[in-house]
Amino acid sequence: MGQTRVSPSRVLIVGDVMDDVVAVISQPLRPDTDTPATIQRTLGGSAANTAVWLAGENIGVDFVGRVGASDFERVNDQFSQAGVVAHLSADPARETGALVIIAQGQTRSMATDRGANLALDPRDISPSVISGCSWLHLTGYSFFHHDNPELMSSFITEVANTGIGVMVDASSSGFLEDCGPEKFLEMISPARVVRCNEDEARVLTGASNLEDAVKILATRFSCVVATSGAKGALVWEDGALHVVPAIAAEVVDPTGAGDSFNAGILAGLASGASIVSSAQRAAELSARCVTLLGARP
Ligand SMILES: Nc1ncnc2c1ncn2[C@@H]1O[C@H](COP(=O)(O)OP(=O)(O)OP(=O)(O)O)[C@@H](O)[C@H]1O
Ligand SMILES: [Mg+2]
Repeated sequence: MGQTRVSPSRVLIVGDVMDDVVAVISQPLRPDTDTPATIQRTLGGSAANTAVWLAGENIGVDFVGRVGASDFERVNDQFSQAGVVAHLSADPARETGALVIIAQGQTRSMATDRGANLALDPRDISPSVISGCSWLHLTGYSFFHHDNPELMSSFITEVANTGIGVMVDASSSGFLEDCGPEKFLEMISPARVVRCNEDEARVLTGASNLEDAVKILATRFSCVVATSGAKGALVWEDGALHVVPAIAAEVVDPTGAGDSFNAGILAGLASGASIVSSAQRAAELSARCVTLLGARP
């Protein structure tokens, strides 16, 4: 990580904003009739959640995203209340992305409509926002099913060429399968740090063992952070494998574990820490997240 710029220490996050509707049911969903549920509506999106967690760590955060025009003020206000400097574009035709989550026990099924996120154009990002940051973070969602995925790939190439560190979260084993792992790895090749969970590591590499998967990914990226829930994380840095244990927590709701973990990593990196100590900070943040209801602090 010798080439990491320590100052300025702002982080730029580019990615999805979603309106989440979480329906918690206590019995299986009954087709063609009603099933009682407790329903919660929140603002989400993996990248947006990470931005909010990161602002909570007192790191300056710029967030770039796209929402339906009629939601612009509402979403902008929520980011500013959370301490995130949002640079939103308003889509005149598409609605804000939305996600319906049906949660029963440990099972969560998601129906995802990425809406305006699909037309997010990184060419609209002001050069001064980019040059003010030491790290750029994106999620895999920005590369999946985008109107023009090559735009994101060119964007991260340009940013990485200026010396800014780029981190990408693989985000979704299902969408990785749809996209094709090799195509995805090619698109994110300028990234310095890749983060994935166990399922994503398997899809990306074909390896069934997490350690093997990390070593395969390490042939293409300087740093790899592969997490496996309460079992913790494996981190590849400077040619060596490190184990970063999870921190024991009373789990209330696991939603947002990965997003808060990414915020912890970015908070460490933006402060000039190594990936390993950033991952320890991330484990602390995500242990706090799982004790809370919802994906945000
Ligand atoms: N039950 C838990 N107890 C304590 N820490 C946890 C728990 N679950 C997750 N974590 C922490 O969060 C990190 C990331 O978790 P996980 O591997 O589930 O990521 P993910 O699959 O990307 O999450 P998400 O489903 O939110 O995208 C773990 O490495 C660990 O530090
Ligand atoms: Mg994840």
